[in-house]
Amino acid sequence: MDLTHRPRRLRQDRVRGLVSETSLEPSDLIAPIFVDATSDERLPIDSMPGHERVPIEESVARVEEVLETGVEAVMLFGIPESKDAEGTRAWADDGVIQEATRQITAETDAYVITDVCLCEYTDHGHCGPLEEELRSEGREHGERCAHGHGADLTVDNDATLESLDRIAVSHAAAGADMIAPSGMMDGMVGAIRAGLDREGFEHVPIMSYAAKYESAFYGPFRDAADGAPSFGNRRHYQMDPANAREAMREVRLDVEQGADVLMVKPALPYLDIVSDIRREFDHPVAAYNVSGEYAMLHAAAEKGWLDLEEVALESLLSIKRAGADLILTYFAEDVAQGLSRNR
Ligand code: PBG
Repeated sequence: MDLTHRPRRLRQDRVRGLVSETSLEPSDLIAPIFVDATSDERLPIDSMPGHERVPIEESVARVEEVLETGVEAVMLFGIPESKDAEGTRAWADDGVIQEATRQITAETDAYVITDVCLCEYTDHGHCGPLEEELRSEGREHGERCAHGHGADLTVDNDATLESLDRIAVSHAAAGADMIAPSGMMDGMVGAIRAGLDREGFEHVPIMSYAAKYESAFYGPFRDAADGAPSFGNRRHYQMDPANAREAMREVRLDVEQGADVLMVKPALPYLDIVSDIRREFDHPVAAYNVSGEYAMLHAAAEKGWLDLEEVALESLLSIKRAGADLILTYFAEDVAQGLSRNR
């Protein structure tokens, strides 16, 4: 055969590395951690094998385990000791994230990112207080749910912004290195930026969940963090999976409001969005490889249908290839360990 072009030449073992376009490093990864104020022991999370909710007193030990694998950053989620309609425990100075952040930043070198949202703190499980008008009708949320009337109840956007400002400031005051608002409220980045700057935290960056979709892939997380909505769904504020142009609009708004890092969530079903953002913007792009993406690979591996280590690595590599600079993933520790083993 007289072939001029033979791409296989560059696939030989000794040259593959030289021409490799994408690489994955432990320093690209952020490990999510669940801190639980309701328990004094570590509790395994059934739908997320290998992950646990850890009590506040164990949070330093948990972060040290992460650091040992070479991963340098953690994202903290909190399960508060009590919930109410407004989610007031989210900004309490002695709240679960505030306490854990103080301990972790005092005792480790981890880069601590905190999730700023209300769904784990409200008794109805939505990402902010519900619209006054609807609440004053005096019916219980559960009742609405049971009667199927919940769909028109929604989160009060502007009231939520005030709470997000308070939460972000309380996290920064506890020592958080970066703030990550995930509630998909209009104006949330601007409100938080203003709050942080007002209180002297102008050096604390914001990683915005800029394009966060209303996704069924969050299922296991909602079990883990006890944050499932008690009625309805999050369609009124999270994005429609059908939309890509809208994601660019969301991102542009967050950029205008001062976002430092732009996140897409989930990751694998939305790699087109990661790649669109990478092309349009110069900000670092993050992707959140969410709980459902983790759970499905584990489930298939448990059945012997997939090699877990290989599919995890391939998934994360593909997220980087699409254009993500950083990846939030429950595989962080395992993949980081795999990477250093193969070195
Ligand atoms: C809270 C939040 C969610 C996730 C991260 N932050 C749940 C949701 O929006 O319902 C999901 C993460 C995952 O599935 O791993 N706002």
